[in-house]
Amino acid sequence: MKKEEALQILKEHKQDHVLKYYDTLNEKEQKELLSQIKDVDWEVVETTKSEENQNRGEITPLGAVEIKEIEERKEEFIEEGLKSIREGKVGAILLAGGMGTRLGFDQPKGTYPIGINRDLSIFECLINNLLEVTDMAQAYVPLYVMTSEKNHEATVQFFEDKNYFGYPEDYVHFFIQDMAPAVDYEGKLLLEEKGRLATSPNGNGGWFTSLHKSGLLDDVHNRGVEWLNIFAVDNVLQRIADPAFIGATILSGKESGSKVVRKAAPEERVGVLCAEDGRPSIVEYYEMTDEMANLRDDDGELTYRFGVILNYLFRVDRLEDIMANHMHVHVVEKKIPYIDETGNLVKPEEPNGYKFETLILDMINMMESNLPYEVVREKEFAPVKNLHGVDSVDSARELLKANGVEL
Ligand code: UTP
Repeated sequence: MKKEEALQILKEHKQDHVLKYYDTLNEKEQKELLSQIKDVDWEVVETTKSEENQNRGEITPLGAVEIKEIEERKEEFIEEGLKSIREGKVGAILLAGGMGTRLGFDQPKGTYPIGINRDLSIFECLINNLLEVTDMAQAYVPLYVMTSEKNHEATVQFFEDKNYFGYPEDYVHFFIQDMAPAVDYEGKLLLEEKGRLATSPNGNGGWFTSLHKSGLLDDVHNRGVEWLNIFAVDNVLQRIADPAFIGATILSGKESGSKVVRKAAPEERVGVLCAEDGRPSIVEYYEMTDEMANLRDDDGELTYRFGVILNYLFRVDRLEDIMANHMHVHVVEKKIPYIDETGNLVKPEEPNGYKFETLILDMINMMESNLPYEVVREKEFAPVKNLHGVDSVDSARELLKANGVEL
């Protein structure tokens, strides 16, 4: 794209300020900026905060397969899950493209040293969990790791330096998620350098399209993978390719499954799995009214009691069906470093604009059916979002110790 062409597009969208420093850039920087402008998805960056709040359908509770039933049918579920792993029908997707801003660690979150007296990273914890399953199945599960432009090299390097934590290298693939530009509160595109739009990973909802773009969907097909287990990097107790979960979902005949925990309190900040106009759906904690969050059944249990922990299972053919569908864009307030009027870099202490993200939880609603599968919180849910306090390195370490992991 030429400068004139870019200028015309930018003028149409009232964004020509981004070329303010163009003439001071070297040729390479100019080319890169023009290429960023060419890639802007205007429909996304012009989503406004008010448009984001789409009308929701009728929300009703959605029952889960609960721990008691899982205990009773455990062998049957595990046998079915192990069978599909051995037949090569299960793959896993590690979502590791996030910025982890709350943790304030400037390396990929998975490289965080969660060990105290020994070298143990979050990535290693996760691979150890996966190895327990593959040892049991005597078969490996292909692992696709989603990174972002910002952390790709450091992530791949870390896996290489650590010899893939004992997992076979040819079962591990990396792919890079797409980026989205950020804007200020007036909707103006921000620059992070004089020649670069401020961009960040476009949320965890774009993983399937990014997998496809990277060419790795062919690998999924070539290996005959029919189910993908998606999970977040930041839950160190995450059970990956859990045979009982896979077996229960397959035997239920549903097209997807979600691991859920019983909410600890009405105000707990987790998305709740429910039905929306009869389809599975996740209502985020900030979308819940007080009344809905506190509603109780006759037996005193919260009516909307199952919170998601970012561990889902999807049927690959159904993911392909929905790939062309437009995903809902979330407009999120964030602190975005930017170049100010005078050309200086500002690192704001408070949110100063919006980022645009698609979220995996919206994919649940795109499925016809979903099996909520209850797990024991203390055994499977140790999120690492902050350094201290709730959902932190400290709380995750305590939970790891309680589960017999040596730190
Ligand atoms: P979070 O929603 O906690 O976001 O990610 P984050 O960027 O890691 O952390 P904060 O909000 O900046 O502190 C949940 C999961 O989704 C992945 C993360 O890596 C994590 O596994 N994720 C998030 C992506 O892969 N890409 C994204 O763009 C966002």
